[in-house]
Amino acid sequence: MGTRRISVTVDGVAYSDDVEPRTLLVHYLRERLGKTGTVVGCDTSNCGACTVHLDGRSVKSCSVLAVQADGSEVTTIEGLASGGELHPVQRAFHEYHGLQCGYCTPGMIMQSVDLLRDNPDPSEEEIREGLEGNLCRCTGYQNIVRAVQAAAKAGTEAPATAGGAA
Ligand code: FES
Ligand code: FES
Repeated sequence: MGTRRISVTVDGVAYSDDVEPRTLLVHYLRERLGKTGTVVGCDTSNCGACTVHLDGRSVKSCSVLAVQADGSEVTTIEGLASGGELHPVQRAFHEYHGLQCGYCTPGMIMQSVDLLRDNPDPSEEEIREGLEGNLCRCTGYQNIVRAVQAAAKAGTEAPATAGGAA
C-alpha cells in the first residue's frame, strides 16, 4: 500500500508528511517529529501515557492513525507550556508531587487539562473518573487528584490574589 500525504499542525507548527496508512499517531509524533515527550506505556490502549489533544480533545495517540489527524491540530505535552511558562496543570503536578517516575505524567496532564476544560470545578470523584483511562503505577493517585484540584482552584481564582482566603 502506498503512503498518504497528511497535513497536520502539531504544537503550533504546520507539517506535511507522507505516512503509511497504518502508522499510528503516536509513532508519527515520536519518530517523525521527534516529539518524544509523548510516550508509549502499553500495547493495549490501556495506560493513557500517550494521550495528546486532537482538535482540543484528549485522545490516546496509540489508538489513532496518523492519517486520521490529517487536517487537524494536535497538541502534545511539549506544546502545553506557552512562552516559557508552564501550564497551570503542569505547575500543580510539580507542586503537589503528582508524579514519581514520571512515565504516566505527560498523558495524565493532557487528560487533566481536557477534564478541567469540561468541568472547571470537579469533585474528587469526578477527577478520578476523568482519569480512569490513565494508569499510574507509582503514586496511588492521591497526589494526582490533589494536583488537579489545585489546578482547578488556580484556574478559577484571579491569578493576582495571594490565595488562602478560605
Ligand atoms: S500507550 Fe497508548 S494507551 Fe498505553
Ligand atoms: S509516576 Fe510513575 S507511573 Fe505514574
